[in-house]
Amino acid sequence: MNLDRLKKEKNAVILGHNYQIPEIQDAADFLGDSLGLAQSASKTDADVIVFCGVDFMAETAKVLNPDKIVVLPDLAATCPMAAMATPVLLKKMRDEYPDAAVVSYVNTTAEIKALSDICCTSANAVKVVSSLPEKEIIFVPDMNLGKYVQRFTNKKIILWPGYCYVHKNIKKEQILELKKIHPDAEILVHPECTPDVIDIADFAYSTGGMVNHVKKSNSKEFIIGTEEGICYRLKKENPDKNFYSTGSVCSGMKKITFEKLVKSLENLKPRIKLSDKIIEDAKKPIQRMMKIGRG
Ligand code: 13P
Ligand code: SF4
Repeated sequence: MNLDRLKKEKNAVILGHNYQIPEIQDAADFLGDSLGLAQSASKTDADVIVFCGVDFMAETAKVLNPDKIVVLPDLAATCPMAAMATPVLLKKMRDEYPDAAVVSYVNTTAEIKALSDICCTSANAVKVVSSLPEKEIIFVPDMNLGKYVQRFTNKKIILWPGYCYVHKNIKKEQILELKKIHPDAEILVHPECTPDVIDIADFAYSTGGMVNHVKKSNSKEFIIGTEEGICYRLKKENPDKNFYSTGSVCSGMKKITFEKLVKSLENLKPRIKLSDKIIEDAKKPIQRMMKIGRG
């Protein structure tokens, strides 16, 4: 069946992350970064949210919309970094640092969010940490984003040993090689990259931040240090500009195909299911973050 007809029939909205494949990006009603997607999820009046991204993003949408059906077209679309934080270890860390606030990156399970004081995304991590009265912050689970935040604050950031394999594999040498070939290009990287990569970049942004920056910049060329899927959107919205990707691929993000999207909309499956208790506890830190907004 035709996608538009299906959407109307089910009163569904399609939310897609900037790393999705081109067919999904074209099909999405809203395309964005983690924060933008959470904001869209909180505002929609659709009965069904089809989330084209990875598990933690769809879970966030469910927490914000417990009464709606939230569908993730393939439950194997997971973020390995989100699985790196476990409740047992987090409780241990809280005992070790009783005065610290727990800031969890949205790239965590709903269970971890439920144990956190506040969430953040890469678009507002610095602003979220600065907003807190605590002087010590347990930052879960991305150590690279935690190190990035540490550049902007005197607070003690207690790092969790998690990382994103996609961004960890973006090497400084790769970026410098691209810069040699395209000397006029601006270097944009994601704050999940390692510190040595961030050091040589012109800017570190969330994926939404990159989209906004490219639109406003006078530069015609950009080296993009994040998942390659975003280059489709950047080129589509800025056809006169050129983008050079490090070729990094997130296999979880690529699990969502157009066929799976249509099938999930037809069947309204697979659905995100969370217990009432987790939803209640995870909602507070997410909403606290949403009040702070974009950094
Ligand atoms: P953004 O919030 O910047 O889109 O990042 C999400 C993500 O998973 C980065 O790897
Ligand atoms: Fe997770 Fe990294 Fe993929 Fe983002 S790019 S979803 S952090 S594995």
